[in-house]
Amino acid sequence: MYSHATKDTGFSNLADRLGNQAVRNDATKGTGAHEPVDRPKGRALPSDATNRATASPTAISNHTSRSNTTPGEAASTSTTRLGALAEKLAREHTLADDEYRALISGRTPELAKRLAELARVAREPIYGTRVFTRGLIEISNICKNDCLYCGIRRSNHNVKRYRLEPETIVACAREGHELGFRTIVLQGGEDGFYTDEVLAGIVEQIAAACPDSAITLSMGERSRTSYKRLFDAGATRYLLRHETATPQHYEQLHPANMRWERRMQCLRDLREIGYQVGAGFMVGSPYQTIDHLVAEMRFIERFKPEMCGIGPFIPHHDTPFAHEPAGTLELTLYLLSMIRLIHPHVLLPATTALGTIDPRGREKGMLAGANVVMPNLSPIAVRKNYELYDNKICMGEESAICRGCLARRMASVGHELVVDRGDFR
Ligand code: SAM
Ligand code: FES
Repeated sequence: MYSHATKDTGFSNLADRLGNQAVRNDATKGTGAHEPVDRPKGRALPSDATNRATASPTAISNHTSRSNTTPGEAASTSTTRLGALAEKLAREHTLADDEYRALISGRTPELAKRLAELARVAREPIYGTRVFTRGLIEISNICKNDCLYCGIRRSNHNVKRYRLEPETIVACAREGHELGFRTIVLQGGEDGFYTDEVLAGIVEQIAAACPDSAITLSMGERSRTSYKRLFDAGATRYLLRHETATPQHYEQLHPANMRWERRMQCLRDLREIGYQVGAGFMVGSPYQTIDHLVAEMRFIERFKPEMCGIGPFIPHHDTPFAHEPAGTLELTLYLLSMIRLIHPHVLLPATTALGTIDPRGREKGMLAGANVVMPNLSPIAVRKNYELYDNKICMGEESAICRGCLARRMASVGHELVVDRGDFR
């Protein structure tokens, strides 16, 4: 199995490349592209109106207009040009930085519709309209980290902390298997209780109880030796969102002891060991700019994660970002479509956060090119304590009811929830 270690990941020197990317982004100052998409209040820009204009599709269309055309003609020229960029992305799976920038900042409802159509066409021969489920067990909300955006960060003393015992976790996995889940995801804070020995033991028990299921871990940053041990125990997928492809932005979202380079090293280690790797980022996280989003697109293009979790940032009332605006449904859907076009094979979840900011967010996610949902299998008694952001949905539903509800929701937009491991193809 370890022979995967020799696989060429195309990821060498990625940190350097992305570091350079960030420097190049700085060079674009004055274009408006570096301004925050969802700016933290009271920082940076002179007025909200300026910021909204930057992120607003209409404003950017004006920005790209030519002086010798009427506004109507300019808008239509711009739409045609951007439509051509969307087609180019579908054809070539890459764009130049300024083309990515134009496509993101010039977005309109018509362009979003076109991108979504192209995304569904790209997905069709690979996954069709089949939707894979991952049963998510939130095994602990105890975490040594203090990510500024996260509701269960160490400094939040208002959280009722819990950790699930190994036997409870295995029982949840068994229940999930009976309900038709063929991927079990164990997610949690970086809780020292789950040593390699404890976690590998849980993985082995789930692998024995559900031999036809894939086991995914999402337990944060660990050593390469630890990742290898867990892989050998039977975990074959790992979700570790990179959070942002721009090191300076990473520093704005995390305390000083958390390093972007370390996150990247973990992703490299996971891939070299042989895991299917899930990266991802929050849309509209504080300080995020259009240039950061361009860097995200480039990161996905180069690293090609097997899975990519993107969902809107949603503020949590007990964090330093409590008063920051949430990311939008509109931008999240647009980026989902772009990611599907950049990397047609990617497993792309319509996240719970997307379902939280819009009651039909997950259905809309499918229409934008997503193909995975991750309902909750955690015991109901603890779910409310795994509150990463405010108003998180599905806190009180039985797992069986959740699955039925999701199947109906997917069917309502012509998609089918399937019983399948949902491997990367
Ligand atoms: N500890 C593991 C890790 O770091 O990967 C897994 C748990 S962590 C809470 C899972 C993901 O939740 C993070 O990668 C982050 O992107 C997302 N998240 C945390 N706070 C959020 C918020 N306020 N809004 C949206 N997503 C959030
Ligand atoms: Fe550790 Fe959020 S800070 S899970």
